[in-house]
Amino acid sequence: MTVISTDAASPAIDSTALRRCLGSFVTGVTVITALGEDGQAEGITANSFSSLSLDPPLIVWSLRLSSRSFNTYKNAARFAVNILAEDQVGISNRFASSGVDRFEGVAYTPGLGGVPLIKGCISYLECSLEASYPGGDHVLFVGRVERIHTNEGRPLAYGGGGYLTVQTLEA
Ligand SMILES: Cc1cc2nc3c(=O)[nH]c(=O)nc-3n(C[C@H](O)[C@H](O)[C@H](O)COP(=O)(O)O)c2cc1C
Repeated sequence: MTVISTDAASPAIDSTALRRCLGSFVTGVTVITALGEDGQAEGITANSFSSLSLDPPLIVWSLRLSSRSFNTYKNAARFAVNILAEDQVGISNRFASSGVDRFEGVAYTPGLGGVPLIKGCISYLECSLEASYPGGDHVLFVGRVERIHTNEGRPLAYGGGGYLTVQTLEA
């Protein structure tokens, strides 16, 4: 086991080691969608999504400050969390790519406020932006959940720097 700590002798955590450590926490994969200032559909792959509160219903995700999508999410009054199904690795990669039209060939329907809901996802949470907080090189966006949809199927998972499928174990 490699032990890495922030003591006086080693004040900085190595970012590669930190990524590797954080990568051992397996998550689902979402695409967060919103409308840009000109009303154009925007979306970004994010696995920082997490539940926050049941009453009131709040969720949270974080976006890199240097993201080209930063202004969209900072200014959008609402966004949707599209939770990807296990057959949507292509969608995840597409919405994590730069220099492409991320929505080209992607089927979606308009949700509340016209925010895109990508077809074929496991679940959707349609949110209004409740608050945002600085978090180092990211910003935390807290969403108030206004409408949800849940479908049958298995979610896509992400861990150890790669995509995973989930399997239910006997209790
Ligand atoms: C599985 C996965 C999860 C990601 N999660 C996040 C995230 O939570 N927050 C974030 O800012 N970027 C995340 N990214 C990176 C963005 O999807 C995207 O690749 C990057 O922001 C592209 O640069 P741009 O935002 O400047 O277009 C993730 C990428 C992948 C593949």
